[in-house]
Amino acid sequence: MNIIEIINKKRLKQSLSYEELEYAFMGYLENKVESYQMSSLLMAICINGMTDEEIINLTDIFVKSGDCLDLSSIEGIKVDKHSTGGIGDKTTLIIAPIVASCGVKLVKMSGRGLGITGGTIDKLESIKGFKTSLSNDEFIQEIKDINMAISSQTDNLAPLDKKIYELRDVTGTTNSYALIAISVMSKKIACGADKILIDLKVGSGALINTKEEALKLADIMQKIGNHFGKETKIIISNMSTPLGKNIGNSLEVIEAMDVLKGNINSDLGELIILLASTLVSLGKNISYEIAKEEVLKVINDGRAYNKFLEFVKYQHGDISTLAVSQDTIVIKSEKEGTLKEINAKKIGEVSMLLGSGRQKKGDDIDHTVGIVLNKEIGNYIHQGDILCTLYVNKVKNDFNINEAFIIE
Ligand code: URA
Repeated sequence: MNIIEIINKKRLKQSLSYEELEYAFMGYLENKVESYQMSSLLMAICINGMTDEEIINLTDIFVKSGDCLDLSSIEGIKVDKHSTGGIGDKTTLIIAPIVASCGVKLVKMSGRGLGITGGTIDKLESIKGFKTSLSNDEFIQEIKDINMAISSQTDNLAPLDKKIYELRDVTGTTNSYALIAISVMSKKIACGADKILIDLKVGSGALINTKEEALKLADIMQKIGNHFGKETKIIISNMSTPLGKNIGNSLEVIEAMDVLKGNINSDLGELIILLASTLVSLGKNISYEIAKEEVLKVINDGRAYNKFLEFVKYQHGDISTLAVSQDTIVIKSEKEGTLKEINAKKIGEVSMLLGSGRQKKGDDIDHTVGIVLNKEIGNYIHQGDILCTLYVNKVKNDFNINEAFIIE
């Protein structure tokens, strides 16, 4: 077999066999295929797509590139949840303790943010002492003890995804729905849960921008889940507007705690109830309606919030240390009218510039900075009304955030 023939086959829109995919991708993992050759193949895949069979085969190759977590020592049904990423997406921090306090075991390996989308691990590292890197044994023991654990992904779990994702990120090949499906589902399968919930984000602040693409991605993720014997549910949710009010690491942990204390009358609260109830219904094999009653109960009686505190303590975090910058800039409206849109992409870009995200791999992030939105879509805005507050540190004036607010 020859890598150039394989690249040319994809360039000519032909499908690749399991052996050809394995030769190219495992060859790249083992440094036998060069990164410029893999970049070329990835771009051909982005442009010409893959058949369902190719997608399932490549997912299998990704899964087998590393170890699969054996969760058989944990009793009962294990559920996992994944979001395809967005701005202000702190749902994992809220959903995991809700689901765990309903008695369902939630298994969650999370990533760091890159570019404008945040990552759960960075958010948790706003809490001093919080241990985000757990061994497999520690991870399993925590789920046995408190029904949940959130850890960064171990190096030997789908290592091919890690290496390919880093290359995609710098070669303009992140937006292929085939490559997204393979990346997300290979990690979920290797992580070993019995049932998987995918929160598929669509909109300006997401990797997938149109409903049409989202439906294609949902369909193939479902097929991958079925193929690997994992019950998979996909919920498509909006990411043209940031999720919730707070964007930035500590700020998002604070908002997550606020929702767990019962402040659920918002778009964020609505999504939380939907995702958590779906997971509880999967984990307990009960109807969505009964699961929703359980979810509301654990929020209202404080069990979900207490589970969050228990989880933070278990992973050595000290919640009393959570800090936001004391240096703030208030952004006022220059216009009058109805707020039609808060552009998630622009808000994400400004938050990243303030220091809450990385502009390139390996950059340090500032957990104390970010943005708190003060208005919602549909609000009537007067000139001089506060649109948002920026929590700043080193970068103070390198942006124009007013243009994120479309007022007509
Ligand atoms: N999340 C992932 O893990 N991989 C992708 O390709 C996109 C979102």
